[in-house]
Parts: sequence; C-alpha cells; structure tokens
Amino acid sequence: MGETYRFNRHHFLTSLLIITAMLKSVHTITTNTEFVKSSCTFTTYPRLCFTSLSTQASLIQTSPKLMAHAALNITLASAKATSAMMVRLSSSRLNPREAAAMRDCVEELADTLDELRKSIGEMCRLSTSNYEVYMSDMQTWVSAALTDENTCTEGFDRDEMNGKTKVLVRGKILVVAHLTSNALALINHFASIHG
Ligand SMILES: *[C@@H]1O[C@H](CO)[C@@H](O)[C@H](O)[C@H]1NC(C)=O
Repeated sequence: MGETYRFNRHHFLTSLLIITAMLKSVHTITTNTEFVKSSCTFTTYPRLCFTSLSTQASLIQTSPKLMAHAALNITLASAKATSAMMVRLSSSRLNPREAAAMRDCVEELADTLDELRKSIGEMCRLSTSNYEVYMSDMQTWVSAALTDENTCTEGFDRDEMNGKTKVLVRGKILVVAHLTSNALALINHFASIHG
C-alpha cells in the first residue's frame, strides 16, 4: 500500500515536471514566433517576412539584431539560388535581347551578393565601437543591392522579351528584392532602437 503510494507520488511529480518543462518550451516557442511576427510588421512584405523567418525563430529568440542578421542570411541564400538559376538559364536558347538582359542581370546579382556578404560581415562586427559606421555601411549596401535588383527586373520588363522567361526571371528577382527590402527595414528598425 505504502509502496504504491510512493510510486504514484513519484510518478505524479515526474509527470508534473515534464508537463512544466513542456509548457515552458511551448511558451518559449510561442514567444519567439510572436517576436518574429511583430518584427515583421516593420517590413513592407510582412507575410513573406514571416514565412521566411519564422523557421529561424528559435535562433532569433527576441533579438532585433539576430532578426536583421537572419533576414540578411535568408536574402543572401535566395539571391544565390536565383543567380545560379539565371546562369543555368543563360545557357538555354535565348534571343539576343534576352541573352543580353540575362547577362546584365547575372552581373547585377553578383553585385547584390557582394553587397549582402559585406553587410553580413558588418553585422558580425557590430558589437565593437564603430557601431554607427558599420550600421551606415550596411544600410548603404543593402540599398544598393535593392537598386541592382530593380535594374535587373527593368531589363526584363521590356515588351520584346519572351513571355515565359520574363515571367520566371521577374518572379524570382521580385522575391529577392522583397526579401532585401524586408532586411533593410529590419536593419533600420534595429538601428532605431539601438539609439
Ligand atoms: C547567418 O549565417 C551564418 C553563416 O551561415 C551563421 O553562422 C549564423 O548563425 C546565421 N545567423 C542567423 C541569425 O541566422
């Protein structure tokens, strides 16, 4: 009788501990996800922001800096993938105008990649003293990346472009441009609260 009681009590306390730990972890996950969601309201494309960054919520926790960093990481990954796709496409059959637009675009994307990489580098250095310089470099480079992406899209907007290639390229670049715009908004938000 006594044994059973002790066993049950032990069992009960263990279950209680497990449930508490679970609730705590659910609470943390909710808090982190809510943080991503509320930070995304500072961006122009909040839905894209949330779908692209909610998977990183446990890494971001509730840090505006990590949020901006993760946004840059995701933008870089997307720009890389798009650039690779365009390089593949440029070896397919294109008319001369399309081939020229594609070449320009690949070049502009290479600049974008460079600017995003430099920004990520500055993000890693941010904790040191020259905070304002790094922040301003980052804002400049991410804005430049956005301009490069827009230039690329404009090259594909002309009427003489083949419908399928145009739609495909335009769609991919647009996602990169929206991710870049979101990353810039998150950097600016981080800058504004850092003082
Ligand atoms: C960004 O990417 C770097 C390199 O892959 C990684 O080490 C870092 O943890 C990432 N940071 C965030 C906040 O996603």
